[in-house]
Amino acid sequence: MNLAVVGAQWGDEGKGKLIDILSEKVDITVRYQGGNNAGHTVIVGDKEYIFHLIPSAILRKEKVCVIGNGVVIDPKALLEEIDGLKKRGLPMTEKQLKISANAHVVMPYHRVMDQLRESKRANKIGTTGRGIGPCYSDKVGRMGVRMIDLLNPRVLQAKLADNLNEKNDIFVKVYNFKNYDFSEIYNEYLNYGRRLKSYICDTALYLNDAIDQKKSVLFEGAQGTFLDIDFGTYPFVTSSNATIGGVCAGTGVAPAKIGKIVAAVKAYTTRVGEGPFPTEFDTKMNECIRTKGHEFGSTTGRARRCGWFDSVLVRYAATISGANELAIMKLDVLDELKEIKIATSYKYKGKTYKDYPHDMEVLANAKPVYETFPGWQTSTREIRQWSKLPVNARRYLERLEVLLKVKVKYISVGSKRDEIVVR
Ligand code: GDP
Ligand code: IMO
Ligand code: MG
Repeated sequence: MNLAVVGAQWGDEGKGKLIDILSEKVDITVRYQGGNNAGHTVIVGDKEYIFHLIPSAILRKEKVCVIGNGVVIDPKALLEEIDGLKKRGLPMTEKQLKISANAHVVMPYHRVMDQLRESKRANKIGTTGRGIGPCYSDKVGRMGVRMIDLLNPRVLQAKLADNLNEKNDIFVKVYNFKNYDFSEIYNEYLNYGRRLKSYICDTALYLNDAIDQKKSVLFEGAQGTFLDIDFGTYPFVTSSNATIGGVCAGTGVAPAKIGKIVAAVKAYTTRVGEGPFPTEFDTKMNECIRTKGHEFGSTTGRARRCGWFDSVLVRYAATISGANELAIMKLDVLDELKEIKIATSYKYKGKTYKDYPHDMEVLANAKPVYETFPGWQTSTREIRQWSKLPVNARRYLERLEVLLKVKVKYISVGSKRDEIVVR
């Protein structure tokens, strides 16, 4: 059985931990979008790993991990990740990791353009500064460099020359920044190509052949629905489809083969970066949950903004991605609270919004209407069975199921691999 994990909030739902658990039962795990803007944390024993480009299943040495064509790859960052994992004892052979020939490459000028654009915007997005937006822009603008191009000096030469021809003008004339030297980038990137060559292949064919041979595939999403370029809180989003549509476009696997779709959410909400966040806590409560949940970005270290669970948003996310199951992560972070709230609609200028409003002015100013639940005020970290969860915790989760119209299958009660309830 294949399955996909999709973030149903603003990213950092705990997808890494969930993928690590689910990957035990599959043969192959594939990332389908995003780049090293992602930070997926996996904790096994006393060891912590943060994955940016490599699928979170890599710790299972006998399984295969794939970086799909929908991902944008910064080869420097990827090689650092590969080398780091080798140092920690993982083989990182081409049997274990495969990289799509068609995945687009993040170039040095993408990273700088990302930061320069942000610095000029009055309404900042708060990007990770990893060059993700400019790289996807070049992909869509048909200016992009693909992984396969790093293996062909003539193609890389022609593409890079064209790019620098246009970009150096923009860097110098618009941004008053430097000229990029052709040979420096050309040699650097040919070298990356040489080092990554053995991993690069047609991953779409590889995945489809594997599925034909009855192997199972887990599709690993990065970011979350409200950072999706089409369905998110635009323009405060990332530049890829973090929703289920990203799976097909980003791997070359057809919709009917995706299998089960698991929407991952936190038991509350967080967001890192700018943009509307209706259920955001006040300063004091923000600090309280940030401390309990260690809510600091795994890629940039920025403090995450925290708030109550927003069922208006997550219901929309579950609909868009056709979620079959819910994974509720970080329930333990709410363990000590006296009261817990869920937003069920918004009010703005006398009007009630039961569904996600796409007018960002409405979303930014809407006041959430809450249902309030008594907390359970006892630790859930040792619990491994649904029936052993405190009654108030079950009531909270059961209410979420009703509001979201999706069954809760996984409840995570701690950051470690075994701290999970499977219902
Ligand atoms: P991802 O981007 O969706 O993979 O999520 P991140 O790894 O960026 O952020 C999730 C954070 O929560 C990580 O530090 C995890 O170790 C941690 N985490 C995951 N599940 C749980 C849980 O159930 N309880 C607690 N307390 N921490 C968790
Ligand atoms: P994972 O996979 C949380 C946010 C950034 C910014 C916006 C655009 O770990 O859940 P970008 O660099 O992508 O152009 O930034 O998206 N963002 C994330 N927030 N988790 C992520 O990934 C994110 N990846 C990007 O903070 O608001
Ligand atoms: Mg993350």
